[in-house]
Amino acid sequence: METVNEVYKIPVMISKGMFQLFSSHMEILAVVGGCFILWNFFSFLHFWYSMIQQYAIPCFLSRSKHIRQYGEWAIVTGATSGIGKAYAEELASHGMNIILVSRNPEKLKEVSEAIAATYKVKTRFIVADFSLGREVYPHIKEALRNVEVGILVNNAGVFHDYPQITTEVPEDKLWEIINVNIGAAVMMVHIVLPGMVQRKRGAIVNVSSGTCCKATPLMNIYASSKVT
Ligand SMILES: NC(=O)c1ccc[n+]([C@@H]2O[C@H](COP(=O)([O-])OP(=O)(O)OC[C@H]3O[C@@H](n4cnc5c(N)ncnc54)[C@H](OP(=O)(O)O)[C@@H]3O)[C@@H](O)[C@H]2O)c1
Ligand SMILES: *[C@@H]1O[C@H](CO)[C@@H](O)[C@H](O)[C@H]1NC(C)=O
Repeated sequence: METVNEVYKIPVMISKGMFQLFSSHMEILAVVGGCFILWNFFSFLHFWYSMIQQYAIPCFLSRSKHIRQYGEWAIVTGATSGIGKAYAEELASHGMNIILVSRNPEKLKEVSEAIAATYKVKTRFIVADFSLGREVYPHIKEALRNVEVGILVNNAGVFHDYPQITTEVPEDKLWEIINVNIGAAVMMVHIVLPGMVQRKRGAIVNVSSGTCCKATPLMNIYASSKVT
């Protein structure tokens, strides 16, 4: 009990000391303000330091060799448009062969041929609709047999058709979000990770979303499905 009482006295002693050290409340506020400005200044420096380190410096260094060390093939889910297509093109520009996975065979053919022609790499594609759940994975596993996957980009993702309160989201949509955003990421890791562990090399990128960093009413199901 004695010790607990002593602990409670510490903040009182500190505040008494502060009052003795500074003659007025204004001085205390000035010190608090000064600390706040210093904190912000260092956060600002830290932000720009990490921006330069992550985005500017790599522009001047050749990362191709480093990226290819993961293995010959990169597999990108949802690679026929948006962020996934950009990932596939960027990895191909570093000399990685690309396997694209998504639903539409025409789009897959078109994008994989364009990547092969532009970046002079090998490309393959796998037609799969992740919203179907468990049944698609034996086919993907079979297609990836004997392929040395160096990089997996878990990008395929679906969003609510529009922001909606949870009770109004149709059940089919909920399963689609679960199967594509969560199920596919987990199962693709389950398929490629054993080979990576065996070869002692490989990288997995999960494409997340800013929505999972804070409370996002009307899109909370999507937000929670993107936590990684
Ligand atoms: N766009 C944004 O503002 C934003 C912001 C934060 C995070 N993200 C995340 O970034 C990722 C990509 O977003 P995006 O906007 O670039 O997407 P997008 O342009 O809508 O492209 C989605 C890709 O996924 C494929 N896909 C969709 N449903 C699929 C399914 N059931 N099975 C297999 N493939 C499927 C699509 O091809 P098919 O139609 O041929 O299947 C397409 O290639 C998502 O995970 C998303 O959550 C996006
Ligand atoms: C990426 O997603 C997979 C599957 O959900 C998970 O096992 C892995 O830990 C995630 N990686 C990171 C860095 O969060």
